[in-house]
Amino acid sequence: MTGTQIPLILDVDTGIDDSLALLYLLASPEAEITAITCTAGNVPARQVALNNLAWLELCGVNGIEVALGAEVPVIQPLMTTEETHGPQGIGHAVLPTPNQQISERHATEVWIDVVRSRPGEVMGLVTGPLTNLALALKICPELPHLLNRLVIMGGAVNYPGNTTPTTEWNIAVDPDAAKIVFDAFSVLPADRLPIVCALDVTERIEMRPEHIAALADVAGSSPSERIDPTDALGTRSQASNAVVRHLSDAVRFYMEFHREQDQGFLAHMHDPFAAAIALDPELATMRLATVDVELAGTLTRGQTVADWRGMWGRDSNAAIVVDTDPAEFFRRVIDRVGRFAREVG
Ligand code: BDR
Ligand code: CA
Repeated sequence: MTGTQIPLILDVDTGIDDSLALLYLLASPEAEITAITCTAGNVPARQVALNNLAWLELCGVNGIEVALGAEVPVIQPLMTTEETHGPQGIGHAVLPTPNQQISERHATEVWIDVVRSRPGEVMGLVTGPLTNLALALKICPELPHLLNRLVIMGGAVNYPGNTTPTTEWNIAVDPDAAKIVFDAFSVLPADRLPIVCALDVTERIEMRPEHIAALADVAGSSPSERIDPTDALGTRSQASNAVVRHLSDAVRFYMEFHREQDQGFLAHMHDPFAAAIALDPELATMRLATVDVELAGTLTRGQTVADWRGMWGRDSNAAIVVDTDPAEFFRRVIDRVGRFAREVG
């Protein structure tokens, strides 16, 4: 570690796009991943942990603690979405069985330990439901002050949901946890408020087959990596580079899913975008607002409601990303993950 590195705690429900977020961070020299905490969401929490260990194994990375967290949301029953992310959460990819074990510590313990050991330094990045963080806040209410900053992928603000008409997946899985987090972080000054990457912007982060092809070229993988919309469903990559091959198999599934949803043969890369923002908030234009989570609505439970104009008379509790440059984001993904894939094989 050097003084220029950014220590991160990564809380995930891996997940195809969580997988690319992890690869992006592993590929970024300025990122120091202090721990990966796993929550139930896209797939059950234990599978999430195994997926993370498997990506680390594939990339030859040792020594990052992977801790199992909440296996169910704080109040409501768990829902998972294998139809979006594949039977194991990584699309068509079949990752190696990891040698490294899941940590013996619970994710909440890891969260608290990491932030207490380096007060004011650590970036929290949550790309799954906010369950683990909500549980950690119950034990350690001073956590918002101990973090350097929190970046959340979640919510749909002035935008339709992807799980219900009003509600985004990560918030829909555990709206009660989301409410706990937004309330708890409302004590911070404006420049330390959580950065919220909601669907409004993350659905503009459209990964297409040509992005995977370009990344594979940077990795020096052969033959040329082509995810063709006319291929049979579930066609597997023949790429020589193992990271490219598994990533391509994962992302192909996500593209097939988006096409089924009438969104085109592309994949919204919500979580890698949030990872890029955690390393470089300058990539985003943000606006402060007060965010609250609808818990009582019979149709709208989990909706993230933003008060942009102070109508509630409450201080802002979030910096919401309102704009970005998707092309610049993809340039970074292709360059960083491509080079990293080349290095690790
Ligand atoms: C979010 O939901 C999950 O399915 C993705 O991994 C992402 O974190 C997008 O709504
Ligand atoms: Ca996710």
